[in-house]
Amino acid sequence: MKFNLFVTTLLASSVIIAGCSATSSETDKHETMDHSNMTDEEMANREGMDHSNMTDEEMDMENGHASHTNLVALNNSTGENELAIPQLIEPKDGIVNINAQQGTTEIFKGVQTQTFGYNGSFLGPVIRVNEGETVIFRTKNELAESTTFHWHGVDIPGEGDGGPHQLLEPGEMKDVKFTVSQGASTLWFHPHPVGATAEQVYKGLAGLIYIEDNNSKNLELPKEYGVNDFPLVFQDREFTDEKQFDYQAVRNDDGTIGDTLLVNGTLNPKLTIGKEKVRLRLLNGANARNYTFKLNTGDKFQQVATDGGLLNKPTEMSEITLTPGERAEIIVDFSKYDSESEVVLLNEDDAILLQFIIDEQKVNPIEISKNLNDYVVTDEEKNLPVTKKLELFGMGKMVYINGKQFDMNRIDFSQKQGETEIWEIYNKPDAMGGMIHPFHIHGTQFKVVSIDGNEPPVNLQGWKDTISIEPGQAVKLAVKFNHKGIYMFHCHVLEHEENGMMGQVEVI
Ligand code: C2O
Ligand code: CU
Repeated sequence: MKFNLFVTTLLASSVIIAGCSATSSETDKHETMDHSNMTDEEMANREGMDHSNMTDEEMDMENGHASHTNLVALNNSTGENELAIPQLIEPKDGIVNINAQQGTTEIFKGVQTQTFGYNGSFLGPVIRVNEGETVIFRTKNELAESTTFHWHGVDIPGEGDGGPHQLLEPGEMKDVKFTVSQGASTLWFHPHPVGATAEQVYKGLAGLIYIEDNNSKNLELPKEYGVNDFPLVFQDREFTDEKQFDYQAVRNDDGTIGDTLLVNGTLNPKLTIGKEKVRLRLLNGANARNYTFKLNTGDKFQQVATDGGLLNKPTEMSEITLTPGERAEIIVDFSKYDSESEVVLLNEDDAILLQFIIDEQKVNPIEISKNLNDYVVTDEEKNLPVTKKLELFGMGKMVYINGKQFDMNRIDFSQKQGETEIWEIYNKPDAMGGMIHPFHIHGTQFKVVSIDGNEPPVNLQGWKDTISIEPGQAVKLAVKFNHKGIYMFHCHVLEHEENGMMGQVEVI
């Protein structure tokens, strides 16, 4: 079969990746690296990037950070299982029930894996709400351990945000009532208890929130859930020989990664779509791995949304990188392919993430709207002075924001409700280069004003709540909170967050 051949070729050509686990382009990093204490040989190795005959230990040495080198390549998805599509739920009488629970899931044929999930044994539903609607998220902790329910990207009062302060003990319930006050977007939810966030997410606690508004309902966009509009949650895991999660055994202080990709919890997924334009809502739901998405055909796709809303115009892209926590919506035009075409989504190392099966019976031509949104960074925002400076620094257990580690009892900043401030976030490189930190702020969507003083690329000119910051980079964000309360800001490499790369802003 043609397809198998293709897979084999990719397998054969797949390379072992070395270097910084979090940096997708090692070459970029050279600019910021201090090579002064490296031997010529070390330099040559590094520059040449020929790691093929190095042992793991040598690679550790070379990189200087033992915990930094465990970058395991992703296995190719063989495409044997149809992708799971999460249940879509909407408020009933204004209420959405969300239960965190544990159970078992058949991820591998014939094997039950112990997992966590929301309203099910593994992962969560897609909760769809509308702008302007007042809803109650009726949360219940049915786990045997405490957890919180955090709404990542939702503009919500601090007491409902579900940060580390809002712990629910086993059996406890909490109603979170709020009015949806932001535009169409793909957001998500996950736990946030101190010391157990990373493990609970790893075991399966993550779900999606879709917000729709009048604009998004009227636009020409694929929007039939599970028909031409699909959520894709990317998470890599390492399974034990018994096909279980053993988080503590594989935990890495610079971010836990695995060789096995799950998309919506499905191992080796394939997705059957029509010969038409299809909307894919991508979430990097991994603890730490970055994903660069591209098509094997080399064809471009259009990005239509960032983390927190639609872009002003569809933006043509040949690839897109998402760091943990980030989302993007893309439109892939399958109308030019047929059922014989081999179309797959690849990552930066050409590992197959997802295979597409084209059903030629399904044809629904759509002309994507040319204008999608009216996002703007105003001159006033561009000219505001920097009033909050944050410096991200460190590796492993020694990760800091402004030289400090997270303390539940310390408020790092305060900001007035409804007032825009410019936050400048600088990722300070270390002697070995450092790594990308995906920086996230709770309870709001921000605007990227500049990256290293330059206007951000077009596909970052939209609402964001998480931004990838490379070593040496400084980004300016226009940040406004619409509600009061205490909010976290942190690196979304979940192990960095737990190691203390997190702080608190109190909105007064
Ligand atoms: Cu997605 Cu503080 O979290
Ligand atoms: Cu980090």
